Amino acid sequence: MDNGKIGVLFVCLGNICRSPLAEAVFRTLVEGEGLSDRFTIDSAGTSNYHTGDSPDPRTVRLAAARGVRVQHAARQIAEADFTRFDYVLAMDVENLRRTVRLAERVDGASVVRLLRSYDPEAEEGAEVPDPYFGGPRGFEDVHDLVERACRGLLTRIRAEHHL
Ligand code: 4NP
Repeated sequence: MDNGKIGVLFVCLGNICRSPLAEAVFRTLVEGEGLSDRFTIDSAGTSNYHTGDSPDPRTVRLAAARGVRVQHAARQIAEADFTRFDYVLAMDVENLRRTVRLAERVDGASVVRLLRSYDPEAEEGAEVPDPYFGGPRGFEDVHDLVERACRGLLTRIRAEHHL
């Protein structure tokens, strides 16, 4: 990013479940490693379904139980994000496709990938499944996947940036 910080943006469909969680989990990890001043961390949705909404209470509740504070106002991803963020991480293939399509319209330098490409236990193409229409188990699973991938992402970024 222009301000010398490393910009990391997490992207899902509604920006009320998976990506605000990933944003909060990643921020908590970054804080824990004393690197907060080196990062700008945010999340966005490819849709405008929930613009302005708070994160899903099921996500907030579960994350709080695990010591992660999820707080965000949903917004739709925009072309300017590809000049503001170095890493743009999509939760699933469909939202990666939408994100790449938008990225191609601007002359940005963002790395655009699936979040779970940084999960050491994931196979190629692995997704963070949408928990929105499912039961509570889905939210538990999503939290586990997101946390593992965010740890892998931070390890990779630290190596790439000699942090
Ligand atoms: P998210 O979950 O993409 O993880 O925020 C969803 C939230 C809302 C909807 C779909 C997915 N929706 O269709 O309203």
